[in-house]
Amino acid sequence: MMLVLAVIQLIAISAVSAALYDVTKYGADRSGGIPSTDQIARAINDAAIHGAGIVHFPPGKYLTGPIELKSNIILDIADSTIITFLDDPALYPPLDATLPDGKQRRIEFTPLIRGVGVRNVAIRGNCVLEGNGAIWWDRLPPPATRPIFIYFSGSHNIVLKNIIIRNSPMFNVNIIWSNSIVVDGIRIRNPESYKGAGPNTDGINLLSVNRVHVTNVDVATGDDCLVLDAWGYGKDRDPTHDVLIENSHMSIGHSGVGIGSITAGGLRNITIRNCVFDSVCRGVDIRTNNVRGGVVEDILYQNLTMNNCTWEGISITALFPDYKDKGWHPIGDQTPFIRNIRYENIRGSAEREGIYLVGLPESPVENIVLENVDMRSKKPNPILLQNTRNIVINGRRY
Ligand SMILES: *[C@@H]1O[C@H](CO)[C@@H](O)[C@H](O)[C@H]1NC(C)=O
Ligand SMILES: *[C@@H]1O[C@H](CO)[C@@H](O)[C@H](O)[C@H]1NC(C)=O
Ligand SMILES: *[C@@H]1O[C@H](CO)[C@@H](O)[C@H](O)[C@H]1NC(C)=O
Repeated sequence: MMLVLAVIQLIAISAVSAALYDVTKYGADRSGGIPSTDQIARAINDAAIHGAGIVHFPPGKYLTGPIELKSNIILDIADSTIITFLDDPALYPPLDATLPDGKQRRIEFTPLIRGVGVRNVAIRGNCVLEGNGAIWWDRLPPPATRPIFIYFSGSHNIVLKNIIIRNSPMFNVNIIWSNSIVVDGIRIRNPESYKGAGPNTDGINLLSVNRVHVTNVDVATGDDCLVLDAWGYGKDRDPTHDVLIENSHMSIGHSGVGIGSITAGGLRNITIRNCVFDSVCRGVDIRTNNVRGGVVEDILYQNLTMNNCTWEGISITALFPDYKDKGWHPIGDQTPFIRNIRYENIRGSAEREGIYLVGLPESPVENIVLENVDMRSKKPNPILLQNTRNIVINGRRY
């Protein structure tokens, strides 16, 4: 089903993209010496004015400020090309965007590459996108924010294929309020954050999205490798659903695949399968707390290997982030619910608990099945359950 979807998307994009717009024809410099921000923008605008186009980067080294994508554009980057982003903060002013559905969103810095309210966009190529992050991490350590590398919001039909993203100032890929997304074969490389580098460099960060296929990605980064969130406030709920993550490798980040802690919009129908995680903090986790709200349900984890998790292996907690017991609260809009989660064929090792499931007294974590799960742990008690209901681990009911 997802494969069919991916193929449809690629066809949709190819169909609208006959003409080629070569950035060097617009004066872009490919020797790496002279910034080409305006030349690249002119090539993209020209393609957009003509309705669609392939904006092509011939082999070389390019230097640029932020790139704004338009609808019906493929950024097609030649093999071995390096595009380096300038690190002058003045080039990345705050960005206000109104999405097609009227939602307002302000981000503190213009992202390095952005698509706001666009349709049918792809970035592809066996190339390197270099974010020059070290200078930003130094200049603006947390809690300050820095520019996001690739950012989409309010967009439809997005494909990221084969690119290598290095040294992002902040999140590497951040897609919000969008649908029909394929992320295939990309590689993300940022240093580990505990060495004082790479702060908040989430690999792939997806918020309030649906119809998503992530496959063959390889992420090593200083924060979560992949995270799914869902925005919501009051009666306004923007769920995340119909997501397939497969055939991927995650290492050194905080979570291999994290769900939450922004759960208010609700997250459902998510499958994570055939992945290998090495030396991440938590292998797979779902995290929320008693003011986050939302329902997390119908999640399937299948065939995962997670070696050397430095914290827990499989984790669900409704006491994020500090794990302290907050006592009982009346059930309301802010109460999160976590239920109907299945783990099959999972193996690996963790410094802390292999299986850690913690709910709230007023909202236990419920209907959790773990089958053929072999998670070794350095703890005398490798399984911790608190405020749970109807848990089955390898055939035994808890
Ligand atoms: C769940 O998501 C998958 C995509 O991963 C989709 O093919 C399927 O139809 C969805 N199932 C339901 C019940 O919506
Ligand atoms: C399980 O995942 C591994 C690693 O991605 C993969 O090589 C293997 O083919 C998968 N097994 C099944 C039965 O899908
Ligand atoms: C386990 O992870 C730690 C921390 O990331 C790392 O230093 C160590 O080399 C890893 N060990 C193995 C066997 O991969």
